Amino acid sequence: MPGMTSLQGLIELLPPSAPLSDAVLVAATALAPQVVAWRRHLHQHPEVAFQEVETAQFIADTLGAIPGLTVTRPTRTSVVAELRGAHPGPTIAVRADIDALPIHEENDVEYRSTRDGAMHACGHDGHTAIVLGLATLLAAHATRLPGAVRFIFQHAEELSPGGAEELVQHGVMDGVAQVIGLHLWAPMPVGRIGILAGPAMAAPDNFHCTITGKGGHAAIPHECVDPIAIGAQVVTALQQVVSRTVDPLDPVVLSVTQFIAGTAFNVIPNSAYLAGTVRTFDPALRQSIPAQMERVIRGIAEAFGATVDFHYEHGYRPVVNDRALAERLQTVVARTFDHGTLIDLRPTMGGEDFSAYQQRAPGVFAFVGAGNVRRGIVHPHHHPRFQVDERALDVGLRYLAAATIELLTDE
Ligand code: NI
Repeated sequence: MPGMTSLQGLIELLPPSAPLSDAVLVAATALAPQVVAWRRHLHQHPEVAFQEVETAQFIADTLGAIPGLTVTRPTRTSVVAELRGAHPGPTIAVRADIDALPIHEENDVEYRSTRDGAMHACGHDGHTAIVLGLATLLAAHATRLPGAVRFIFQHAEELSPGGAEELVQHGVMDGVAQVIGLHLWAPMPVGRIGILAGPAMAAPDNFHCTITGKGGHAAIPHECVDPIAIGAQVVTALQQVVSRTVDPLDPVVLSVTQFIAGTAFNVIPNSAYLAGTVRTFDPALRQSIPAQMERVIRGIAEAFGATVDFHYEHGYRPVVNDRALAERLQTVVARTFDHGTLIDLRPTMGGEDFSAYQQRAPGVFAFVGAGNVRRGIVHPHHHPRFQVDERALDVGLRYLAAATIELLTDE
């Protein structure tokens, strides 16, 4: 493991009286090239949700080379490592997601994906590398650490029902006092960190429905029940569920993202298929939306003589950061980084299964800026040209190191 020798040397150079967080932060900077190297390796070898076999092996091998860690494999493609400090204290969990997306990479970089149709287009390669770095750093300081740190390398964030819930079922949150995680965030400039106190990411639900009418010749519409004309009205009317039945101060997104019908210009098809997503924060609103949607869809379809088969599926819970913990970690950022690093952020309607861990312990999910307009790092997450400014890896590592030490040394 290149970088380790210099890391140990550096740690030995620091006076033993230096505060633990200072010692770890100095060492973090020395580890930065190694973290970039890990990230690039992962980027070149992406694996999509539930198929992270080589990724998990790479993580387990890397962790296995770090003295002091107990490495376990809760599921086939996930890895958990535990570090016990030398003194009593709480157990803090740190989570990284490890899966890639079924996207063909269009970036022309030396470490581009070597696999057609798979790409780390959300930054999970970076999350994994950062938490590998954190495990390395903290293990090197184990004799000074209280409590324990559990490093969770979670599979399948991108595909509901997600890996987080599965890992929680396997007990990875047992005994955990607090849980933290981060997302590299391309819409935010590198060098910035955002920590929301309260709701941070929405609950991503999905729906699909089939409207069945009566197909026939396009020139004889009066003898048909046209599912396309009905579906078009359904799409329009669904927007009124958002704009006319929901309190305007409650955020909600309802997007119809698929409308599939018809095979020829002169044929009215028998049925039309609609699907999409609903994003909410408020639990009561989330529960009320499916019935409202169904009433509208069924009402319109029945008015014109069609029938409807409607399905609504709840996805991840919303990510809601513990307020007190978030404020504490905001203070850590203000103390650890330059003035201006901590920025105000608005919640996003994107979803994340980090929420599963937050059901078991207070947790905070932070956003670490990874964009850079000047260097052309402007593409959104899940885009074939998505990139991160790799300096964000060092920021993320130092943030997690400072945050973990803060929570471990809780009185
Ligand atoms: Ni992601």
